[in-house]
Amino acid sequence: MKRITDFLAYRRDGRRISVVTCYDAASARLVAETEVDALLVGDSLAMVVHGFPSTVHADVPMMALHTAAVARGAPKQPIVADLPFLSYRKGIAPAMEAADALMKAGAHAVKLEGVRGHEDVVRHLVQSGIPVMGHLGLTPQHVNQIGGYKVQGRDPSQAQALREDALRLQELGCFSIVLELVPAALAEEVTDSLEIPTIGIGSGVGCGGQVLVWQDLLGLNLGFKPRFLREFAQGATLFQEGLNAYARAVREGGYPTVEESF
Ligand code: KIV
Repeated sequence: MKRITDFLAYRRDGRRISVVTCYDAASARLVAETEVDALLVGDSLAMVVHGFPSTVHADVPMMALHTAAVARGAPKQPIVADLPFLSYRKGIAPAMEAADALMKAGAHAVKLEGVRGHEDVVRHLVQSGIPVMGHLGLTPQHVNQIGGYKVQGRDPSQAQALREDALRLQELGCFSIVLELVPAALAEEVTDSLEIPTIGIGSGVGCGGQVLVWQDLLGLNLGFKPRFLREFAQGATLFQEGLNAYARAVREGGYPTVEESF
């Protein structure tokens, strides 16, 4: 059985960590039978499951509902759940309520974006026994301020801030940090400066592991083709073929057969 605490051992052993987002019980059951190391109930679910334009629309009840579904589907897998937009920016008490809801729903760790302005929250979560994953680089909850989903850390001051923030998250006790859309050389440098593993998305192979969104990696997010994305399956084609075969069989009276009837 894999655990969140294995992340540090993976880092020490130089073993790369595979993480995939997951939002429902049926998908979690599938992941549980694979070699994937951990599941992330990402607030990306607001976009890829609920169709909102950004992760700003995720809230604690939504994250807790999906976390509970994933935990029921994969009861033995390490599950990280995202603390949604502003839930950790209103002070320690509301942040602890949000983390409490996600942990009780079945998460083994929480993830939050950035560090400046909520260091006290990170420290309090860690000191309360909640493993915390950081998230730096492109932080999608800031999309309205950033003005889009752009590579972060190209200019020297941004790069320096990223180096400092990563060290700060490690000092505060985070067990891992997601680096999203960070230039590969900078991501590798930050990774090498840390004892905890980095988990990259669009940040090159020098990270301690990778995370991808379920729909993206399985080829289910039609029209979404950023440079970093490799589709490891042609899910949309596969599903559409299955759906068309079903529709044809129904139309032609080939389904159900006598054997498929009572
Ligand atoms: O919400 C999410 O899916 C994420 C990953 C892309 C890292 O934060």
